[in-house]
Amino acid sequence: MTENRTNMSDHAPHPRKVAVVGAGRVGSTFAYALLLSGLVGEIVLIDVDRKRAEGEAMDLNHAMPLSHTTRIWAGDYPDCAGADVIVISAGTAQRPGETRLDLVRRNAAIFQTIIPRITAHNQTGILLVATNPVDVLSYVTWKVSGFPSQRVIGSGTVLDTARFRYLLGEHLGVDPRNVHAHIVGEHGDSEVPVWSLATVAGMRLAEYCKGGGFVLSPETRDRIFRQTRDAAYEIIQRKGSTYYAVAVGLLRIVESILRDQHTILAVSNLAPGYYGIEDVYFSLPAVIDRGGVDRVLHLLLNEQEREALRGSALVLRGVLDDLRE
Ligand SMILES: NC(=O)c1ccc[n+]([C@@H]2O[C@H](COP(=O)([O-])OP(=O)(O)OC[C@H]3O[C@@H](n4cnc5c(N)ncnc54)[C@H](O)[C@@H]3O)[C@@H](O)[C@H]2O)c1
Repeated sequence: MTENRTNMSDHAPHPRKVAVVGAGRVGSTFAYALLLSGLVGEIVLIDVDRKRAEGEAMDLNHAMPLSHTTRIWAGDYPDCAGADVIVISAGTAQRPGETRLDLVRRNAAIFQTIIPRITAHNQTGILLVATNPVDVLSYVTWKVSGFPSQRVIGSGTVLDTARFRYLLGEHLGVDPRNVHAHIVGEHGDSEVPVWSLATVAGMRLAEYCKGGGFVLSPETRDRIFRQTRDAAYEIIQRKGSTYYAVAVGLLRIVESILRDQHTILAVSNLAPGYYGIEDVYFSLPAVIDRGGVDRVLHLLLNEQEREALRGSALVLRGVLDDLRE
C-alpha cells in the first residue's frame, strides 16, 4: 500500500502519530486497540514482512469508517519521523531446540539493525519496547539509541501486574480495578509479587480479608502468584501466543504519554539505584507522562521482597553479561 498523504495546511494542528515496528500479532492487536481508542490521527505499520503490514493496514482501514478517523498505512523507517511514540514489537519466536539465550541473541541482533533505522528519522519520540525478553531488549534499545532512559520504556510487568490484579479481584470478589498490587522486577520467571504493599480500597490486603471474615493463606497467595507468573505458558500452550492483554497494556502506556496523565504503571526502565541495583532495565512502578518516565517510585519493600528483587536484577545482569561475550 502506497502512502497517500493529503496536503495539510501549515496551520493545521499536528496529528498525534504512533509508529509500530513489527506488525505481528502483538503489533497489529495494539494498532487495533489504538484505532478504537481514537487517541491518534496516524498509525504507521512497519514490518520486514511488508505484505503482512499491508494486509493489517488494509484490514484496520476498513474499520475506520465505523470507528475513528485515523490515517493508517504500511510504511518504512522514514515514516517514523514525527511519531510521538514508536512501539517495537518486532522479533522472532523461539525455534525448536533453541535456548533462551540464543533467542536473546537473535532478537538483540534484530534490534541492533532496527533501532538505528528508527533514530535516523526520529530523535525526539519515545521508544516503547514489547519484544521479549523485554527487559534485556529495552536495555539494548537504550544503549543503541543513545536516548535518555526516560524516553526508552519497556512494557515490563504492566501485563503481569494486570494479571495479578485480575486474579486477586477474582479471588476477593471485587472489581480488579479496585485492587492495587504490583509485580516488579523481570517480566519473566524471576518476577516478584509485592504482597506487603497490596491494597483494596486503601486497606492493606490482610485487613481487607479480616474485615470480610476470610484469610488469604500462604497456599492461596502462592497459587495466585504462580498463575500470574506462568500465565503466558498456559495461554501459549492453548492458543500459541498472547496478544490482547499486552496490546491493552501498551495502549495504557501510550495513553498516559499522549495525554500527559502521570499514570503509575510498572514499566521496564533503567534501575534507579534503589537497593543497590544499577545498570539493568527492570520494572518498578513509575510515573508516566508526556516525556516518558517522569519518576520511578521507591517502593518500601520488605526484606524478602528486596532480596527477590535483587535476585531478579542479577538474572537480568547475567543475560546482559552473556550478550556481551
Ligand atoms: N512484553 C510483553 O508483555 C509481551 C507479551 C506478549 C508477547 N510479547 C513479545 O512480543 C513479540 C512479538 O510477538 P508476536 O506474537 O506479535 O510475534 P509475531 O511473530 O506475530 O510478530 C513479530 C513480527 O515481527 C516482524 N519482524 C521480525 N523481524 C523483523 C525486523 N528485522 N524488522 C521488522 N519486523 C520484523 C515479523 O515479520 C512479525 O510480523 C515477541 O517477542 C513476544 O514474545 C511480549
